[in-house]
Amino acid sequence: MFEIIKNSENKYKNLNNGVWETSESNKFIDIYSPLDQRLVGSVPAMTSAEVDKTIASAKEAQKKWKHISVNERAEILYKAADLLIKHTDELAELMMLEIGKDIKSAHSEISRTADFIRFSADSGKSVSGESIPGDSFPGFKNNKVSVVKREPLGVILAISPFNYPVNLAASKIAPALIIGNTVVLKPATQGSLSGLYLARIFQMAGVPDGVLNTVTGKGSEIGDYITTHKDINFINFTGSTEVGQRISGITKMVPLLMELGGKDAAIVLEDADLEMTATQIVAGAYSYSGQRCTAVKRIIVMDSVADELIAMLKEKISQLKIGNPLEHDQLDVVPLISSKAADFVMELIADAKDKGASLVLGGNREGNLIEPTLFDHVTRDMRLAWEEPFGPVVPVIRVASKEEAIEIANASEYGLQSSVFTQNINDAFYIADSLDVGTVQINNKTERGPDHFPFLGVKSSGMGTQGIKYSIESMSRPKATIVNLHI
Ligand code: NAP
Ligand code: G3H
Repeated sequence: MFEIIKNSENKYKNLNNGVWETSESNKFIDIYSPLDQRLVGSVPAMTSAEVDKTIASAKEAQKKWKHISVNERAEILYKAADLLIKHTDELAELMMLEIGKDIKSAHSEISRTADFIRFSADSGKSVSGESIPGDSFPGFKNNKVSVVKREPLGVILAISPFNYPVNLAASKIAPALIIGNTVVLKPATQGSLSGLYLARIFQMAGVPDGVLNTVTGKGSEIGDYITTHKDINFINFTGSTEVGQRISGITKMVPLLMELGGKDAAIVLEDADLEMTATQIVAGAYSYSGQRCTAVKRIIVMDSVADELIAMLKEKISQLKIGNPLEHDQLDVVPLISSKAADFVMELIADAKDKGASLVLGGNREGNLIEPTLFDHVTRDMRLAWEEPFGPVVPVIRVASKEEAIEIANASEYGLQSSVFTQNINDAFYIADSLDVGTVQINNKTERGPDHFPFLGVKSSGMGTQGIKYSIESMSRPKATIVNLHI
C-alpha cells in the first residue's frame, strides 16, 4: 500500500490521472505528529502548473465517467468500502500519528466512513427524475411534458479539515463520484497523509484514471489558486469560518457547499433529566478534546438547576480519560493538533479567568494536552462566551428564563446546532423553532450523524446542506428535456 504512495524517504506522492507522482518543485512540507513530534511523512508543495495538470486530468476524465452506469460506479464504491475496512489497522495507525486521534476513535471513523460510502452507492442508485405535465400551468395544454433528470456538475474541488481526515474527505468524494462528477481532493496539510491513503483505497477499488486526483500544499499558498481555477465547477469545503469566508469572497459563479465553525449551545431547562443531560454534555463537549465542529461549546442553563448540573458535570469530567494515544487505546482528551491551537485555547482560558469566571475544574496545560476545563458564571464580555475554542474548554452561562436562553443562543455569529434538554415537548419545540441553527437536538448532544440526515450550518456556520442524499443533490443539477407534441 504505502510503497505506491510514498518513496523510501517517507516522501508522499500525489495521484494525478491514475499515476502517483512526485512534485517537480521538489519542495516538501514535513508533517510532524502532535503526539511526540516525530516526522510522520512529507507531502509535496505542488506548483500551480501541477495543479493545472491535475485539474485538467479531472476535467478530461469526467467526460467518460459521467457515462459509466450508476450501477458500475456503485460497484466501485462498494469495493472501496470493503478495502477501507480491510486496511483499517494500517490507516488507523497513520491517523493516530498524524492527527493525534486515539486508536479506537480512528477505527470508528474508518468504519463509519465505509458505511457512508456504501450508503452513498445505494442512494446514487435510487436517484430518480420526474416528468412534469405542462397543462398544470395556466394557459398550457396537454401537449408538453418536461422530462427532468439529474446531471453531474463536472469537477468537484473537495477541501477537507484535519479533524476527520478520512471521513470528511470521503463524505465529499463518494457522493460526488456516484452522481458522475470527478474530484480533486485537497486535504488539510495535517491530515494529508491519511487523505492520500484514502485516495489510494479508491484507486485500488477501480476508480478510473483521472476520476479522483489529489493536490497537496499549504492552503495559505495554493488555496486561492485552486479555488479560483476556471475548471473547478463546485467547491465542497469543510473547515474554519475564516477560510470559508475567504473562499466565498474570491470565487465567482461557482456553487459552494460549506460546513464551517460552530458554537453549539446546550440549553438546559429546569425540568431536564440532569443525570442524562450531564452525560450527554460531557460526551459532546470533550471527545477528541472538543476538536469537532459539533462539539458542545457552551452550556446555557436555568439558574435554578445550575448548581446541581455543574456538580454532576464536574464529577463526570473528572472521570474522563486523558492522555497520549501512543500510550492508551481509548481516550477522551488528547493533545491538541498543534501548539498554536493549544496557545489559542489557553488565551480563552486566561481571558475568562481575568474577567472573573469561576473555574470549576481544569485549566492546566502540559505541552499540547489541555485538561478538560469548565467555567461557571461566564458572562457576555468574555471571549469564551462567543469564540470557538476547538479545544476542551466549555463555559456555563446562567440564565433566568427560556427567552434569555434563546436570546443568548441566537446572539452567536454561528448557527450549526443546538441541544435542548427538557421533558416538556412544548418547550422543546418552542425553543427549537426559535433557534437560528441548522439542527436542534432534543435531549441529545449536538452531533452530525446519522450521516443520511441533513447536516447544515446557518449564519457563519456554513451554506448548503450535507448528508448523503443532500450532498448528491448539491453536487448535481436538474436537466430538463421538454417533449412537445404537435397534435
Ligand atoms: P482550516 O484551517 O479552515 O482548514 C480547512 C481546509 O482548508 C484545509 O484543507 C486547509 O488546508 C484549507 N485551506 C486553508 N486556507 C485555505 C485557502 N486560503 N483556500 C483554500 N483552502 C484553504 O480548518 P481546520 O483547522 O482544518 O479545521 C478546524 C475548523 O474547521 C474549525 O473551525 C471547525 O469548526 C471547522 N470544521 C467544521 C466542520 C463542519 O462540518 N461544520 C467540520 C470540521 C471542522 P491547510 O491545512 O493546508 O491549511
Ligand atoms: O467536526 C465536524 C464534524 O462534522 C463533526 O462530526 O458530530 O460526528 O463528530 P461528529
